[in-house]
Amino acid sequence: MTALLAPSILAADFARLGEQVTLTEQAGADRIHVDVMDGHFVPNLSIGPAIVKSLRPVTKLPIECHLMIEDPDRYIKAFADAGADTILVHVEVCKHLDQTIRAIRALGKKAGVVLNPATPALLTSEILAEVSLVLIMTVNPGFGGQEFLASTLPKIRAMRDLIDRVNPGVELEVDGGIDASTAPKAVEAGATVLVAGSAIFRHPGGVAAGMDALRTAR
Ligand code: DX5
Ligand code: ZN
Repeated sequence: MTALLAPSILAADFARLGEQVTLTEQAGADRIHVDVMDGHFVPNLSIGPAIVKSLRPVTKLPIECHLMIEDPDRYIKAFADAGADTILVHVEVCKHLDQTIRAIRALGKKAGVVLNPATPALLTSEILAEVSLVLIMTVNPGFGGQEFLASTLPKIRAMRDLIDRVNPGVELEVDGGIDASTAPKAVEAGATVLVAGSAIFRHPGGVAAGMDALRTAR
């Protein structure tokens, strides 16, 4: 199976966001990845539900919201109402992960869990039956344009094994430093969805060239 591509709009030109999303869709993107940051869980600030609401009519692609925020329960409904198809929460901030995942699914949305580089794969074992997706951070979250941490490759493999044993339908996504050279390593380790920001929106040849390079490499 070929890995899916999820452009991360964090690296886009926000003044031309709709247009840039359309370019990725025309170039074969499979979903749009939206990075939500609160300045607490991660040092950076980024995007809120209003942007998701504006993007919703611009694209037919599913929109996934990666919540890098403390207390994600407070904002799940706002992102669901804004048009998110999938909501991803970090296990590091969810005191009652089972309840949070159920709340996302009760709103009719797909739910996913995210692991920081130092968080073990096994922390997802009791929730795997309830989620559609596991996202492994391949950089420490907060900023685009960071270097891929090769130290996460064994964890991607461990997660692949766990998913295959417990709930083979779960997608395994990677996020951070994914480009034409790191994408094949992540795929070889078992990733099925590739998030990429800089490699797509900051490609010297433009968005379509960035998409092409990743498509060929994956
Ligand atoms: C990082 C974000 C990523 C980021 C990836 O905290 O979760 O989605 O946009 O950016 P690149 O692909 O530039 O590493
Ligand atoms: Zn992300």
